This record gives sequence, structure tokens and C-alpha cells, in this order.
Amino acid sequence: VSQRQRIDFDHHSPEFSEHGPAQMAELRDTCPVGWSDAQGGFWAVTRYSQVDQVLRRPEIFSSQKNLRDDGVWWGGSVIPTSQRSPLLPLEMDGPRAVAYRRIVTRWASRTAAERLAPTMDRLTDYLLDRVIESGRMDIIADLGNPLPALVIMKVLGLSLSGWHRFSWPFHTLEAAAKDSAEFQTCLHEFAWLADQLADRCIERRESPGDDAISDLVTASVDGELVSIEDCVQILMTFIGGGVDTTTATLGHALRYLSQHPDQRAVLIDDPDRVIVAVEEFLRVFPPVRQLSRTVTRDTEFGGEQLLERERVLVSVLAANLDDQVFEDAGSVELTRSPNPHVAFGLGVHRCAGRNIARVELSAMLRTILRRIPDFSVVESESARYSEAGNVDGWIRMPATFAPGRRLERDLSDLGLSPEVIGL
Ligand code: HEM
Repeated sequence: VSQRQRIDFDHHSPEFSEHGPAQMAELRDTCPVGWSDAQGGFWAVTRYSQVDQVLRRPEIFSSQKNLRDDGVWWGGSVIPTSQRSPLLPLEMDGPRAVAYRRIVTRWASRTAAERLAPTMDRLTDYLLDRVIESGRMDIIADLGNPLPALVIMKVLGLSLSGWHRFSWPFHTLEAAAKDSAEFQTCLHEFAWLADQLADRCIERRESPGDDAISDLVTASVDGELVSIEDCVQILMTFIGGGVDTTTATLGHALRYLSQHPDQRAVLIDDPDRVIVAVEEFLRVFPPVRQLSRTVTRDTEFGGEQLLERERVLVSVLAANLDDQVFEDAGSVELTRSPNPHVAFGLGVHRCAGRNIARVELSAMLRTILRRIPDFSVVESESARYSEAGNVDGWIRMPATFAPGRRLERDLSDLGLSPEVIGL
């Protein structure tokens, strides 16, 4: 153990929050596989090629979360391990994970996402209508939080009016300081949410409809219905994966465009370029900066001896900025193509919601560029998450713009009225 190459790196430190790309570049160049004593100890992997290898070898680098005899959870998708029930299929390995994943990917296939696109456009217009006459909005509270949450509610066949309470805990878990009262409330709200989801699952098992929850509770794996507990954890992952990440990317993208008017003008002139630009925003500002795994057996990797049960932190940020793969990796090229970034992960757990995320981001960016093209982010009032956590996102991001006209789209078929949005 004393022979291992040690590094001074903590992904939960303010330094990483502020200087992440520079820290990653240094590790990638000097010690691409190194041991950090922070957060209970872990190996950090920072080269693209090695990140790829770890994520594609789940039999050695496991996602499984396990309960110890003393009731403490270990392993799983973050370091340190979160002390909540495993997110499924994210925090499991093996054939059952594959079977669960197959169900979830049905709801978020490319075709399903494209079918949702018109609804996303209408919802984005609706949300902008609420602020457009005032000339001011909060990109996070007024659009980035509600739009992805409303889409998830729609996919799951839940009342859109519940979007705020369903998504709030996931955003707050990342946004609030760990010692704040808000953070504690957040834990209670997770318990409430799990109860709600269990009730919906039981109802729909009895009388299924045409929605994702009904699909889940009537699906069988190995000839048996999926347990209600597992259904709840699958839904938790789908909601949690779907809300805060897309929000964070929207914030980064709009801030970048606000700072670079020339590049914004290019996208305004040719909105079809937004689809390609989204990939570059995901590469340079990945909202999930790192993934975590656990070593299943002693293994030599990158010239180091990794021991069974040790944790491995795979840096998405470092891989996405690796000059070996991306020419001029540090600069933002909105036309970059191909763009094999790993913002959605790789291998057996690659983001199941990526098609939805891509369509949502395109819908929001295109609509903003069309309806409030002169928007300007108020940097002095913007706030990034208080502690560098597992998502690199924004608490708030005010923007100003020349007031525009409402479009007054009728969304009554979606059950939407201003009261429903109720912020
Ligand atoms: C920009 C937006 C998003 C980013 C950057 C992102 C990123 C990721 C990453 C990196 C993983 C893999 C984690 C790992 O291997 O440990 C993942 C998994 C997952 N994501 Fe996303 N995600 C996004 C949006 C979404 C959306 C919109 C949904 C749902 C609609 C979603 C649902 C999921 C699910 C269910 C998994 C677990 C897949 C599995 O374990 O097989 N994500 N996401």
C-alpha cells in the first residue's frame, strides 16, 4: 500500500469546484491513476482511455451498493457512499440491472424522446410566457428546474402539478449546504416521495394505464413482477437522473453564450446548429463531473495495484478535456464533430435518459435564442452550488432581456394553468 502513487485531490473541496479543469489536467499529465486519502480513500482515474476501460469492465469495477452487517451502505455510484437505498439500476450489477435498464430505456428511446419534442417546445414557450413581459428571469427557477421535471411527470403519467415537490429534493440535495435546515427537510421529502411513488405503483398494478409507471409495474423479470420496492427505486433514479443534470447544463450553456455574443449570433442565425452545440456544452461543462466504482478483486491497472473493495473515482471532466482525444480540448468549439464526450457515461450504465436530455436542451436553447435573443446573464447575482458535489450546477442564474410578447399557448390538454406551475 505504501508504494502507491499518492495525489492531493478531493472532489468535494472548494478548490475542485473553482479550479476543476486545471486540477484534472495536472493529474492527467502527472499521475493518471493515483490514490487520494480524501473522502475515505479512492483511486482517481483521469485519462480518457483509462476512464473508458474502467466503465467497460463492470465485472472488476462494480456499481453495486451493499449493506454491511452494521447497517452501513458501501460501494455505489458516489464517493463517499450515500446512506440511502440503492438507486436502480444505477447501483447494481449483473443480469437484473440489465433487465431493469431495458424497461427504463423504453421510456426514453430516441423515438420516445422525439415524440416528446413538441410538448417540450410548448412547455418551454409556456414557461417563457410567464416572464417575458418583465424582461427578467431566473434561468434555473423559471425554466431549468420546471421544464425537465414537467417532462418527467408527463412520461410517468403523473399530474404535472406535482412537479415541484417531486423534483425539489433532488435539486436541493445538491444545491444546499449539508449542515443546513433545508438539507434536513430534503431527506424528509425523499421519504414522502418514496411513499407517493409506492402508492402510484400499487394503484397502477391494479389498473394500468398508458404510461411508464404502468409499464414498470406490469413488466416481469425472470418470470416475476418487479417488487414495489424495486419499482420505487427505479423511479427515484429516473426522476433524480432526469431533473438536476439537464438544469445544470442549461445554466452552463446560457452563461457561456451570454459571455460569447459572437457564438450566440451564429446559433441564432442557424438554429439547426444547436444540436451539435449541445454536445460541446456537455463535453466542456459535464454536470456529472465524476462517476464511482468499487474494485471487485485485486487488479493491476495503470501500473498500480488496486485492491478488492477499494473505491475508484472516474473523472468525466478529465476525460472530456483530454488532449489525446479532443483537439484543442480546452477550447469550446460549438461545431465540434465527432464529439465522443463521456458526459453520459459509458458501458452498461450509460445514461438511460440521454435522448430526452438532448431533446430538452435543444428545445430550451432554441426557444430562448428565438424569443429572448439578447438575454444577458447577471453574473454578480448568479450562484453555483455551495459545495463541490456530484453535480456541477447552479442555485440561481438571473438574466435580463428586452421584454417580449406572450404567445398564450393553450396547454389545457396537459392540465396546465399558471396556478399549476405555482412557483
Ligand atoms: C444533461 C443531462 C444528463 C446527464 C449529464 C446525465 C448523466 C448520466 C450519467 C453519467 C449516468 C451514468 C452513471 C454511472 O455510470 O455511474 C447516468 C445514468 C442514468 N441517467 Fe442520466 N444524465 C442526464 C439526464 C438524464 C435524464 C433526462 C434522465 C431521465 C429522463 C436520466 C436518467 C438516467 C438513468 C435512469 C440512469 C441510470 C442508468 C443505468 O444505471 O443503467 N438522465 N446519467
